[in-house]
Amino acid sequence: MEEFLELLEKRRSVVAKEMAQPGPDADQLQRILRIAARVPDHGKLAPWRFIIFSGEARTAFGQVLARRHEELNPETTPEQTALEAGRFERAPVVVGVVSRVVEHVKIPEWEQVLSAGAVCQNILVAASAMGFASQWLTEWYSYDGEIAKSLKLAENERMVGFVYLASAMSPPGERARPVLEDLISEWR
Ligand SMILES: Cc1cc2nc3c(=O)[nH]c(=O)nc-3n(C[C@H](O)[C@H](O)[C@H](O)COP(=O)(O)O)c2cc1C
Repeated sequence: MEEFLELLEKRRSVVAKEMAQPGPDADQLQRILRIAARVPDHGKLAPWRFIIFSGEARTAFGQVLARRHEELNPETTPEQTALEAGRFERAPVVVGVVSRVVEHVKIPEWEQVLSAGAVCQNILVAASAMGFASQWLTEWYSYDGEIAKSLKLAENERMVGFVYLASAMSPPGERARPVLEDLISEWR
C-alpha cells in the first residue's frame, strides 16, 4: 500500500511525443478500463463510455484529423498536416473517454461530467501502477463538431479527452507543483 501511495505522490504524465511501444496489451487494457469504471457514479448511471484506438485505426483516424485540419486552416503547411495525421500514432493505444449525460431528476449534468473526468484520472493512475506512460489530452479535436460526428457522438455526448497509453522513451522529471498551503483553508 505504501508503494501505491508513493506512486500517487509521484505520478507524472509523459508527454505524447516522448511515448514509445509497447502499450498495454488487450488484457492489460481491459484491466485499466475495469479500474476506470470504478469511479464514484451517483445513481449508477455510467455516464461515460470508451472509444479505443489501436493499430491501423490510429492511422485512419489521423487522416480524419488531417482532412479536418486542412478544412479549418486552408493556409496550413504540409508539415502541420503531417503532424495532425500522426497525432494518434504517438502512442500504441489511445482511449477516448466520452461523457454521456442522461436526464435525471436528482443528478445534475455537473456531477455526471465530474464522474467522467474521474474516469480519466483512474486510467492515468491504473496505467502508472502498471508501469505505463500516460497523458490526458484534449487538443483541438476534442472540441470540434465535425470530429464529434466522425466519432459518432450522440447529442448528449462530449469528449472528455483522449488518454494516450504507452511506454516512456525516458522517465519524466519532477515539475513545479502549486504550493499546497496556498490552497488549503480551515472553515471557522
Ligand atoms: C482535461 C485536460 C485536458 C488536457 N489537455 C491537454 C492538451 O490538450 N495539451 C497538453 O499539452 N496538455 C493537456 N493537459 C495536461 C496534461 O494532461 C498533463 O497534466 C500535463 O502535461 C502536466 O503533466 P503532469 O500530469 O505530470 O503534471 C490536459 C489536462 C487535462 C486535465
